Amino acid sequence: MGWKLWWWWWWWLTAAAVEVAAESAHHHLVTRIGFGSCANQGAPQPIWNAIIDFDPQVFIWLGDNIYGDIRRPFKIFGKERTIGPWRNSPRFIPSSEQEMKSRYGKAKSNPGYSRLRKNTKVIGTWDDHDYGLNDAGKEFSRKVTNQRLLLDFLGEPQDSPRRKQDGVYASYTLGPIGRLVKVILLDTRYHRDPLRSDGTILGSSQWEWLEKELNSSPTSVTIIGSSIQVISNLSATTGPLFYMESWGRFPKERDRLFKLIEDSKRDGMFFISGDVHFGEITRYDCATGYPLYDVTASGITQAVEKVVPQPLHLLVRFLAWLTPTTMRVMDHNCRYRSCTYGLPNFGAVEIDWNAAPVTLKIEVRDVNGNPVVGVATSLSELQARNFNSSITKKTREHQRHCSLEVSLPWIVRYRLAILASCALAILVIALIGGVWAAILACRRCGRGLKRKCD
Ligand SMILES: *[C@@H]1O[C@H](CO)[C@@H](O)[C@H](O)[C@H]1NC(C)=O
Ligand SMILES: *[C@@H]1O[C@H](CO)[C@@H](O)[C@H](O)[C@H]1NC(C)=O
Repeated sequence: MGWKLWWWWWWWLTAAAVEVAAESAHHHLVTRIGFGSCANQGAPQPIWNAIIDFDPQVFIWLGDNIYGDIRRPFKIFGKERTIGPWRNSPRFIPSSEQEMKSRYGKAKSNPGYSRLRKNTKVIGTWDDHDYGLNDAGKEFSRKVTNQRLLLDFLGEPQDSPRRKQDGVYASYTLGPIGRLVKVILLDTRYHRDPLRSDGTILGSSQWEWLEKELNSSPTSVTIIGSSIQVISNLSATTGPLFYMESWGRFPKERDRLFKLIEDSKRDGMFFISGDVHFGEITRYDCATGYPLYDVTASGITQAVEKVVPQPLHLLVRFLAWLTPTTMRVMDHNCRYRSCTYGLPNFGAVEIDWNAAPVTLKIEVRDVNGNPVVGVATSLSELQARNFNSSITKKTREHQRHCSLEVSLPWIVRYRLAILASCALAILVIALIGGVWAAILACRRCGRGLKRKCD
């Protein structure tokens, strides 16, 4: 062989080696995905140790990645009333850009989180408190600035198109061909109409984008990340006591999402969500050809049981158990009977590509990394078969995981409110009784004194 041929051979081998290395860096097999939400940068965040032990290839932020807004004191009376129908000043106000930056800085330098970032690809979207204001939507004026701050926090490249679009929605296709995992992250804030409007959550540009993403080439697994819950409509059973944000509050928009998923005939899809300060897994069987799961992990620091003293934890668990639900996955493996978990938690997805069929384990885990609720399924069970949702809805109308919370009999649906009213009534009666008894006693006492004086 002439030296030219040798040279050519050498060049080809090196080029091929470089290419293989580059390919494998981009297409690492994804077997573990972690996710979480609701992380107060000012609070200790010991849960990162459990997340690092889980060793995910990808970690997904689902919003409230920091608490950027300022919560003002709880005041029922006085000049500035922040609570009740008679309130005259807002409970939450946005903070300055400088303050937002400093809070992001604090979150990013958390030692646990920093350690996670060394070996794990971190991606994410936002919810209201990192968007900049509690329950805010498209009307919020600082959204452009705050989009930049979130993308800086996530390390988005300066020339990324995501910095030029309106909103932080994004999609990622990870893993090698044949074992692809697609992650679609929605922005439920930037374009969202006011609550109670039954308007849009995503806005038209994001809907167009989502349609393209769902109809793009198939992947084995597709995860849709939404900051707010998609399947559970907690408000239907906690109202009129209190209301939560969720896709359920925008019924038309939610139906559009389910229709889009059904029409796409995409296999292996499920939702992940955050926001509510507890963990649970819900499942809806009447949207598409297979059960649609929504795995809620919330939060990294914020959790409903932490707001009450230890002796009241049992009461919180009892109320969680009492809250009616038609969608929650209940089984004997849950930590608590309610199959919700109100202490700090994170989400863990494990894919066993070597099993036949490929299995999927989705769990919510506690601060020690132990599962508190979970679902094990396989990709073969998440296949869009030839399916007609209107027929399924008719035949399965009254079954669990199909009937909506709003169609529960009213005595079941409103049992929390009924219980609360009864408790309040008993309290009021006891109070009136007490005052009455005190007056009677005083009178008798007064008469006695009078008699003595006479
Ligand atoms: C969710 O609950 C709210 C409040 O009760 C109700 O207005 C809405 O229609 C419900 N959404 C769905 C999809 O059932
Ligand atoms: C689904 O079933 C309904 C009711 O039987 C029917 O009106 C509709 O055309 C069907 N849709 C498809 C896509 O087959």
